[in-house]
Amino acid sequence: MRAAFIEQNGPPEAIRVGELPTPEPGPGQALVRIRAVAINPIDLYLRSGQVAMPMAFPYVIASDFAGVVEKLGPGATGVQVGDRVWGSNQGLLGRQGVAAEFAAIDQEWLYPTPALLPDVDAAAMALVGITAHLGLFHRGGLRAGESVYVPGGAGGVGSMVVQMAKAVGARVATSAGSPERVELCRRLGADLALDYKADDVPARLREFAPEGIDVWYETQREPDLETNIPLLRKRGRMILIAGRSARPILPLGSFYPRDGSLLGFAMFNATAEEQRPAGAEMVRWIEEGRLKALVGHEFALEDAAEAHRFLESNTLGGAGSLAGKVVLLVD
Ligand SMILES: NC(=O)c1ccc[n+]([C@@H]2O[C@H](COP(=O)([O-])OP(=O)(O)OC[C@H]3O[C@@H](n4cnc5c(N)ncnc54)[C@H](OP(=O)(O)O)[C@@H]3O)[C@@H](O)[C@H]2O)c1
Repeated sequence: MRAAFIEQNGPPEAIRVGELPTPEPGPGQALVRIRAVAINPIDLYLRSGQVAMPMAFPYVIASDFAGVVEKLGPGATGVQVGDRVWGSNQGLLGRQGVAAEFAAIDQEWLYPTPALLPDVDAAAMALVGITAHLGLFHRGGLRAGESVYVPGGAGGVGSMVVQMAKAVGARVATSAGSPERVELCRRLGADLALDYKADDVPARLREFAPEGIDVWYETQREPDLETNIPLLRKRGRMILIAGRSARPILPLGSFYPRDGSLLGFAMFNATAEEQRPAGAEMVRWIEEGRLKALVGHEFALEDAAEAHRFLESNTLGGAGSLAGKVVLLVD
């Protein structure tokens, strides 16, 4: 089968596209014919070696997938041949990745793809949607009527946070780095969409939520806690998901008297069972038309290295040429 893989950690050029043996589905696994794969920042860190996880070489890149069940392994009864499925969490913690014509995947990670949803969209929503859901609800305990702020509402995680928070009746503010992306945030449903390059974001957030923000979903790798903690409401929750080398200053005098909470998490620590409510609710919201994918750029599988370079220049380099997800088309 055709696959995009690495034989050692390195820059995007380490990615090769070539033939690998088609895997056989093991006990409880389904062999999925992959149609679309989304690329996430974690894929960049795993490829480069910046994040170390067990990895068998040749290591097929990518976590997020959508496709069709081709064959079942022994004891796999949760899906049937021909089912359209999507999911995430592959290529992580020793599991093989999915940027290939086929992938053998434990059935516990598979969700049904809504009938009208293209595979590209299903793949694009996978890791970012589950991350947004875990952060907002499992960690953040968001309730209807509360206020939310997420920087980067036209980004992968941010675009999911905006829509999910609106889906449960929260008031949502966000920001983006160009007038076009600010407009995109409004179309996703944001009540307040700011241009972080032009607007005074803290001042506008104080107007938006005079008592403070209930759930601050931080997506930045260098969060400015000194500025942001005083913008939290009493009993406010700040979700932290990025910044392995960040050493922000924590203004304790603003933090503890407001009964604040700093809640960090990595989605890959959540078990399939813990992630299942997120996947199930995403399917329901997609079917109800309340959750849509934001696909920024599509590449062919053959151009996987270029796709990594492109995402790297945006998420890490701040190029500003991407709104939404980078997706690889597999056939
Ligand atoms: N812990 C976890 O489980 C987990 C899961 C998923 C992702 N992550 C991490 O979360 C981060 C975001 O991931 P992603 O996939 O959403 O990345 P992404 O799609 O590249 O989004 C990053 C967003 O940040 C925005 N941004 C950049 N500078 C900003 C600023 N000064 N103020 C406000 N917004 C700003 C960008 O907006 P513009 O493009 O408009 O400039 C963009 O929308 C990454 O570091 C990733 O590694 C962690």
